[in-house]
Amino acid sequence: MTEAETAPERPDLIVAANRGPVSYHSDASGEPVVTRGAGGLVTVLSAMLRRHPGVWIAAAASDEEETLAAVAASLRVDLDGETFRVRYVAPEREAYNLFYNIAANPMLWFIQHYLWDLARHPDIRQNELDAWSKGYLPVNRLFGEAILDELGDDGAGRVVIVHDYHLYAVAPVVRAGAPRAFLQQFVHIPWAQSDYWRVLPRGIREQIFRSLLANDVVAFHTQHYVDSFLQGCVDVLDVAIDTHEKAVNVGDRTVWVRAYPVSIDPDVLESAVRSPRVAAAERELLERRREFLLVRVDRLDLSKNILRGFLAFDRFLELHPEFEGRITFLARLQPSREDVEEYVAYREHVLHLAAEINTRHGSADWLPIDLRLEDNFPATLAAYKHYDALMVNAIFDGMNLVAKEGALVNTRDGALILSENTGAFEEIGRFAVSVNPFDIEDQAAAIYRALTMPAAEKAGRAKAIRDVILGNSVEKWVAAQWRDIERKRALEAARE
Ligand code: G6P
Repeated sequence: MTEAETAPERPDLIVAANRGPVSYHSDASGEPVVTRGAGGLVTVLSAMLRRHPGVWIAAAASDEEETLAAVAASLRVDLDGETFRVRYVAPEREAYNLFYNIAANPMLWFIQHYLWDLARHPDIRQNELDAWSKGYLPVNRLFGEAILDELGDDGAGRVVIVHDYHLYAVAPVVRAGAPRAFLQQFVHIPWAQSDYWRVLPRGIREQIFRSLLANDVVAFHTQHYVDSFLQGCVDVLDVAIDTHEKAVNVGDRTVWVRAYPVSIDPDVLESAVRSPRVAAAERELLERRREFLLVRVDRLDLSKNILRGFLAFDRFLELHPEFEGRITFLARLQPSREDVEEYVAYREHVLHLAAEINTRHGSADWLPIDLRLEDNFPATLAAYKHYDALMVNAIFDGMNLVAKEGALVNTRDGALILSENTGAFEEIGRFAVSVNPFDIEDQAAAIYRALTMPAAEKAGRAKAIRDVILGNSVEKWVAAQWRDIERKRALEAARE
């Protein structure tokens, strides 16, 4: 399954992300296992590497991966019939802890999703400043050096795409060592407005914006985030932007700021749905199914607005007691970032609230909220297939692929309850039951409306959503980025 390489060829494409495409770890008996990495990033980056072969650089996240990082420059990994070349960087444990558990999460994640309770948090003290200078920056530098090592020269003709909020400071390292490489940063999460960036000390926020402008392209999922980033460049750095061309001028360079709404891979998803494990999960689900099934699928993250989703369900049951005993709210939540204090407290709060609502409305024979804290994709696919309504009520969300996956897999013309603050809303919001994620009454009404919508209307909306999703597959997402890369290269070559 894995083959070590010590002298790899020079790749045309280098992608870098904190997480890798696979995860090496040990099972309960200590046997080594390799599994597909969790999350949507794996699907979309593997689609990109399928079309433009190259190498994926990630941080070693287990003892096994640290060992692999030490013994080989990179590895060939074969998973589900696809081959990836993976290279691990292995930061010092303490540096990685500062980088991941303080600087990236919660600090940047909370800023970009507007999650700080500003009257109380965050307190920026020496610990947070150290997390930046002794964690975030050194880990970013390691990534930058690994990219330079892969490039091996000035980078002419090659493309480097760095993903997400963990790696904002990589581009300047690569630009300095390989000035002719094409650099793109894809930001998969929202871009907060300038006032909120001002939570960060001036030096740090300026460094983030300036580092991003070392790229050729800065990419987001929506036009709204593109505009927010451009305005941020003016407010934080006072640089000249071109709102018509969606570009920033930095010295003699032009940085394009672009939106490429990511999507899912319908073929991969449809073949996953046909697996025997999904069939087994469906049997289990259908045995317990009540007349109505409301589903949510999320990482257990504060941005996902799980508490208000439960409060809305509570209110819905209060307003519509005729649904008692006839509905289940299945909440499939994958534990996440469990070393971050805010996530530990949030998980407790979620468990407590679900129990309270179950006690208030439930009976010996009926559990209104069925809470499953696990990462089990076959069971998730079974839930997608059979929901009557899917709740996606995120506070803010870069895209939200659950909304797209669910709508594609569902077999009951189930309704989509969708927060107006998700990236997906720009594409499919008009066919969903839209909600303001802070308004509990609105969300309670949305649950009722989703469940009682006339069959023809439900079918029409479900089909319209599926059509939009099928019309913008992940393949198109890759192609749109490549078109711009080639256009920009051609423009620059013409100028030289
Ligand atoms: C978001 C981020 C991804 C991240 C994922 C899971 O979707 O954009 O970069 O990988 O959350 O978070 P984790 O902290 O588990 O990597």
